[in-house]
Amino acid sequence: GKVAVLFGGWSAEREVSLKSGRAVLAALCRRGIDAHGIDAGRDVLEVLREGAFDRVFIVLHGRGGEDGVIQGALELLGLPYTGSGVQASAIGMDKWRTKLIWQALDLPTLPFRLALSAADLDGVIDELGLPLAVKPTREGSSIGVTRVERAEQLAAAFELAAACDSPVIIEPWVTGRELTGGVLAGEALPLIRMQAAVEFYDYEAKYNRDDTQYHCPAGLGDELEVKLRSLVTRAFAAVGASGWGRVDLMLDDAGAPWLLEVNTVPGMTDHSLVPLAARVAGLDFDELCWRILESSGV
Ligand code: DAL
Ligand code: MG
Repeated sequence: GKVAVLFGGWSAEREVSLKSGRAVLAALCRRGIDAHGIDAGRDVLEVLREGAFDRVFIVLHGRGGEDGVIQGALELLGLPYTGSGVQASAIGMDKWRTKLIWQALDLPTLPFRLALSAADLDGVIDELGLPLAVKPTREGSSIGVTRVERAEQLAAAFELAAACDSPVIIEPWVTGRELTGGVLAGEALPLIRMQAAVEFYDYEAKYNRDDTQYHCPAGLGDELEVKLRSLVTRAFAAVGASGWGRVDLMLDDAGAPWLLEVNTVPGMTDHSLVPLAARVAGLDFDELCWRILESSGV
């Protein structure tokens, strides 16, 4: 059938999505699939209707594309699509509601505070200590995230995050190993350990620097790898996510894991993590894209 590959969109992660989408489109075409790239603007539904597509590969990151909006529209059109459904997409985009679900299931996630306005910052440092991670609730690629080391940095960090999305979520900053677990067809891929040359694995370290190190296998030892992979699949299933995705987590210096978030449309650029983990598991990029497409509901 005819496949639409949706990318671009209007979120803050548009540039990342353009790269991810072009890579996926090229892979599907190499596989001989009748795939068509679509930069998903506000007219995306008309384009999809007129194109008589049979299914959709969603490579949109961020709000409007990864958060259930497109997924809901595709449900109305009756077009099968890759990845999570409406509700899981909306929850996965939202770090706060994701944490509420994990807490209810006793899955390890850091304590946190929400801030709607600067007044809500009172007492946060007394409660959570320093350093802190200050993040927009629904954003990706570390956009709007600040590491706060000193009390006087907190207000500016709040403003930066709030400019992306409100409320702002504030957590203790964990030192330790930054890990991620890709999920494909309900199974965890080998974990990756990211080691940024800068302060943390931020937007620059993710996409623009070539001194970020990726370790896959992550060097955790078999027992811990198995344990954390199972945590990844449980965390993924907890929000109702399906198809494929990625769960980010930290392993603190005491060896305790802390789940950070679920990405229901993770990056597929040449710097991205799921393609690396898939490669270590024996799936090249083209095969990975095919498997994701195959898992789209019908
Ligand atoms: N939000 C980016 C695309 C990621 O998680 O890979
Ligand atoms: Mg994310």
